[in-house]
Amino acid sequence: MKSLLLFGATGDLARRMLMPSLYGLDSDGLLPDDLRIVGTARSLLSEDAFKAMIETALGEFVEKDRQRPEWIAKFIARLRYVPLDVSDPTQYQALHDALSREDGGHGPADGLRIFLSTAPSLFGPTIAGLKSAGLCGDQTRLALEKPLGHDLASSAAINDAVAAVFPESRTFRIDHYLGKETVQNLLALRFGNALFEPLWNAQGINHIQITVAETVGLEGRLGFYDDAGAIRDMVQNHMLQLLALTAMEPPARFDATSVRDEKVKVLRSLRPIDGASAATHSVIGQYGAGAVAGQPVKAYDEELGRASTTETFVALKAHVDNWRWQGVPFYLRTGKRLPTRSTEIFIQFKAVPHSIFAGAGAALQPNKLIIRLQPDEGITLRVMLKEPGLDRAGMRLRETPLDISMPNAFADSRRRIAYERLLLDLLDGEPTLFVRRDEVEAQWSWIDAIRAGWKANGMTPKSYPAGTWGPSAAIALTERDGVTWHD
Ligand code: BG6
Repeated sequence: MKSLLLFGATGDLARRMLMPSLYGLDSDGLLPDDLRIVGTARSLLSEDAFKAMIETALGEFVEKDRQRPEWIAKFIARLRYVPLDVSDPTQYQALHDALSREDGGHGPADGLRIFLSTAPSLFGPTIAGLKSAGLCGDQTRLALEKPLGHDLASSAAINDAVAAVFPESRTFRIDHYLGKETVQNLLALRFGNALFEPLWNAQGINHIQITVAETVGLEGRLGFYDDAGAIRDMVQNHMLQLLALTAMEPPARFDATSVRDEKVKVLRSLRPIDGASAATHSVIGQYGAGAVAGQPVKAYDEELGRASTTETFVALKAHVDNWRWQGVPFYLRTGKRLPTRSTEIFIQFKAVPHSIFAGAGAALQPNKLIIRLQPDEGITLRVMLKEPGLDRAGMRLRETPLDISMPNAFADSRRRIAYERLLLDLLDGEPTLFVRRDEVEAQWSWIDAIRAGWKANGMTPKSYPAGTWGPSAAIALTERDGVTWHD
């Protein structure tokens, strides 16, 4: 029997994302028939209580038209539950026994897949416990959910503890952004079309913006978020992955080594933002009281219950120091309690070298390519077109979108949760969309220098009213270069 062993099985991620994703795969017949899903967590729940908890979660987080009693019953039948205090080494034998009970006492077969969705401080003890109980066979795969540390040193310590038991080829570090369709579409767009690549460089592109804007606040994750802040929660992982995929050289093949080799080269080429440049190349903010979507919301420190210097907003002006990107700024911004939920990559091309059109209404806008990830997935290319008319006062031109809405263009395919793709890849042993150790460490090196730069400059977050686009300094960061954020 194959087993997916899920640590943190009663947590928020499991209930909102992982179980609904596994259910989605199961209901499409994509899970092996003999796969059981073994949840573990500290809570001393009975198996029935765990099953009831997951059934409730499916009712809450799966789209209504995908909830069918027979699919739910089939999925729930796959579930097992073993309570486990992962910090107690004596409890792992019971887990081993529970896993082997259904396999005639032979011990779990090689099909064991382990998913750690717990606090990273528990990764080391968990792996040690699993190993001592003989649960880390040479076919076992390990998936790790973020955060993978809080800086380079702690991330390296986690990676060392993992590497002592699992080779890199069986280590699957999750960045759920890589499971999003539109993120993968960036590769299809760049490398499946001849159109863009000749212009995809400093000769053709003026600048790039990457925005991940959220309207939510702390969402009850007080301790975690206040320790992390926006740069570690969002930039270190998701945004740098978006940047790497946007900026990387064409890999020779779409496979794990080729793609990840190219991404890591970009991450290592990021120009450090350090003590000398932090004040001019970064802006941090923290939301105060305000209103989002017409609803009043509390200030961050009020939500938290105490004063804090954690940033809930960060904007950066980054550079990739290689031939392709010399002189092209990458502006990144992310924040909580911004006016809208919107994740996008905005590419502004260079203007035409000379305009043949003159007169009012003939001003040419440079082309823009907008890759929208959220809330609606789509791709827009903004081009200049002639306005219909007889042009007595000269030709009038207007910037007009060529718009592709992914749900419309692919109406026959279901939009999936990012974790569906990643969980299936984990089960199939396909690592391309997982993050390699050298990538994570290059990401942390860059982030650590920025945070040290903030400290060296005594920078603390500037307040911005909830429901606005961050502190005014974030606007100045781009306006100084004659660039406007795309809102
Ligand atoms: C998580 C962060 O990794 O990503 C959260 O910890 C954030 O703070 C979330 O809200 C955003 O993910 P998505 O898929 O909603 O953009």
